[in-house]
This record gives sequence, C-alpha cells and structure tokens, in this order.
Amino acid sequence: MPAKTINDIVALCKRRGFIFTGSEIYGGLGGAYDYGPYGVELMRNIRNAWWNAMVYSRNDVEGLDAAQISNRLMWKYSGHEGGFSDPLVECKKCGARMRQDKMADPTKCDNCGSTDITEPRAYQLMMGLSIGAMADGAINAYLRPETATTTYVNFKNVLDARPHKLPFGIAQIGKAFRNEISPRGFVFRMREFEQAEMQYFVRPDTDEQYFEMWRDARMAWWIDVLGIPAAHLRFTPHEKLAHYAKAAVDIEYEFPDGFAEVEGIHNRQDFDLGSHTKAQNEFKISANVMDNKDSTVKLSYSDPQTGENFIPYVIETAMGVNRAMLAVMHNAYTEEELPDGKSRLVLKLRPKLAPVKAAVIPLARNVPELLDIATNIENDLRRLAIGRIELENSGNIGKNYRRHDEIGTPVCITVDHQTLEDATVTLRLRDTMEQRRIKIDDVPRAVLDIING
Ligand code: GAP
Repeated sequence: MPAKTINDIVALCKRRGFIFTGSEIYGGLGGAYDYGPYGVELMRNIRNAWWNAMVYSRNDVEGLDAAQISNRLMWKYSGHEGGFSDPLVECKKCGARMRQDKMADPTKCDNCGSTDITEPRAYQLMMGLSIGAMADGAINAYLRPETATTTYVNFKNVLDARPHKLPFGIAQIGKAFRNEISPRGFVFRMREFEQAEMQYFVRPDTDEQYFEMWRDARMAWWIDVLGIPAAHLRFTPHEKLAHYAKAAVDIEYEFPDGFAEVEGIHNRQDFDLGSHTKAQNEFKISANVMDNKDSTVKLSYSDPQTGENFIPYVIETAMGVNRAMLAVMHNAYTEEELPDGKSRLVLKLRPKLAPVKAAVIPLARNVPELLDIATNIENDLRRLAIGRIELENSGNIGKNYRRHDEIGTPVCITVDHQTLEDATVTLRLRDTMEQRRIKIDDVPRAVLDIING
C-alpha cells in the first residue's frame, strides 16, 4: 500500500537521512532541499537506471553535460527571456502572491479568501545573473531553467565529434533552476531541481512515428525499471500546446493528492535548432522560429546520401529526477501488519534502486570473533561493486532490521555464535522477512542474485 500522505514521506526522508530542508539551520529557503546519505544513493541509482536505458543500451544516443550558467543570448533566442513566465497575482488584502493557474479558485485569494486580487502579470521564472569582473549589475547570464536548450546549442559539436545519421539523440542529466512563485509538494516543485532529458533529432517527416515510439518507451521504463504499477501511471496529452509544439503528452504518477506530471514527451518540431541558427531563412522552417542575428552557427543537418541540408525536428523526453524519486519512494512505502500483532514500515524498492544493497550485522556488539567475520563478509561484498554496503555494530538486531526495512535494504546478513561453529550466516530478506542459513562462501553469489532480481 503506498503512503497515505506526502507528510509520511517527508517524515521518513528526514528521519532516515534521505532529504533535508535546504539552509535548515538558518530557517530554510523555499524550494531548496539537501539530499542526505540515502537520498544521494537513491537519486544516483535512478539517474543510472535512466542513463542505462537512454544511452548505454542504445547505439544512437550520445551523452552531454553542459554548463548551468549560460549566455543571456541563448535564452533570448530560445524564447525563454521573453516568454518563460507564470501569471502572478497578488491579494490586495493580505499581500499573498500566487500563481493564478494553480489557484483553487482564481477569483479568490488562496490564503484569506478575499476577492480583491490584482490582474495577473507575467513573472519571469529564470534566475538572472550578473557575472564577471566587468559586470555592472545588469543580467548578462542565466542559470538554465532546463537542460534541453543547452543540448540544442551543442547539436553541431556533438555531431562533429560523433557523426550520426538521423535519427540520433543527445541525453543530459543535470540541474535546472526556476524562480517558482510557490514551490510546493516537498520536492515536487522546487527552485533548484534535476532533470534527465533526451533530445532525439529526426527527419521532419518521421516526427510522429518517433514521438509515439518515445512516448511508449518512456512509459515502459517507469513500469519495468522503476517498478511502478501501470495502474498508478497515466498519459495526459496537453490541452494547450506551446506555440512551438506539434504534440505533447505528460506521464503522470498518482500521488496522494492525485495524478501529477513526472515527465513530458514533446514534439518540438524545428523550433529550437531553427531559433538558434543564424541566417535561418536559407531553410524551410516553421513560422514560429525566431529571427536570429547573434548565433555563430547553423544547427542544420546534411544528409550524406542525398546532400539535402535541413533543420531536423526534435522529439524530447523530459523527466524530473527529484519527482521520479518522490514517486518511487511513495510507491515503495509500505506499512505492514505482522503476525505478532506489531507493524513495520518497509520501503519495497527494486533492489537495483535501493540506497544500501546489503547490511552485515554481528548479533552482539564488539565481539571480536563476530566482528572479524562480519568485516570480511562486508569486504567481500564491497568487492562486488554493486553499491553501498553497511556494517552494523550496535548489537541491536531488531533495531537494525527496522532501520534497513525503512531505507529499503533488500538483504541483511547476520553473523551469530553458530557462525563460529559451522561458518554459516543468516540471510534475511526485506520483503518476506524470510530467514535462511547459508555458507559464508555463498554470500556474495546470493546477494548478487537478489540485487539482479
Ligand atoms: N525541456 C522541457 C522541460 O523542461 P518541463 O515540463 O518544464 O519541460 C520537465 O520539465 C520535467 O522536469 C517535469 O516533467 C518535471 O518532472 C520536472 N520539473 C519541472 N519543473 C520542476 C520543479 N520546479 N521542481 C521539480 N521538478 C520540476
């Protein structure tokens, strides 16, 4: 059973060291969070699962890691400087500022219920910077609000380094920054967050086919790799398309408050490569593409067979990694009644995603014979390079099992007095709580089998 409220997840994240409030000891900062020991592992495992599917298991997608601070002009021609804004309204009575399109009732203040509300004004979401010794305080750079644009401007660099025929893609995982009016939902809407985005460049006449292919492939990844049941996921096509989009669909996960976007798949046509291309009137491109006077390149593609030169279309898959982690944790969060009348909380994560892969637990604290054997097992498991391994030397086995259930450790290995006699240990499985005795020599193989499912 998934958690009932996001507060259950917030409490678990804080208690067990997944996520902390950013700048906490100074009163926090809205929309900024710090990831603790288990949060960084879970995020890393989700990132790796995405990279495996999008880059390593294909021969047509390259990787990129672009800078997070970028030239102002990039965001002018991407359309963000002029158009990346939310409608901001202010309550004249209590002063609350709200995003109009997210208000419960756009005619009434969410905070005090007053109907005396200002007209909406466009509120720029990008975080502007004034950088360099010569900067005079005026914005000359921006923190990127998405990875996508920083991928488009590298289209030619990547293609020159790794020539590809169309279709091919460029994948990027990295931070994005948005000055959200009202960050909310814990890590659901933040001001600093992480995206895993892939831009797939296709011939214009094949865009619909690849849009469908990626839409289905991404949904399959959420189900097969993250382990989210299909019943808790759905597609929601955008009702209102952005001016450059031909088609757009969100993948939504069913959070406690209802379905909400975790990933978008977009057919962006030639808008982006076209807008960043100088002398674009040489190409037959969409009317929406912006006139570019400042770029230094043509982000076009020459077909090696036909010699044709054109601007490819882009099919984009855009996932929020923090939202993926929140969905994964929510889905895995399970409260179970036990046969003895007690209950336990267990995070039933896919073993590949689990922050700690295995815990080795001597039954008693600081007993050198037990600790030596446990340390040897710990070292053997570390050599498998499957991720984080922990050794617990507190002597409180019940507490150790409870902690590892709550952080989702798939298997615990307990070393006890019988181990000294027959070189066997107890393997305790997270989901079933089944315990079986196996030989110490067989532990690495058994753990590998569990992690590989
Ligand atoms: N390049 C396209 C793009 O950025 P988006 O729908 O604005 O599209 C993609 O963002 C994904 O990034 C969303 O589906 C969501 O998962 C995540 N995301 C967007 N804004 C976010 C925020 N303020 N906090 C956390 N995640 C966010």
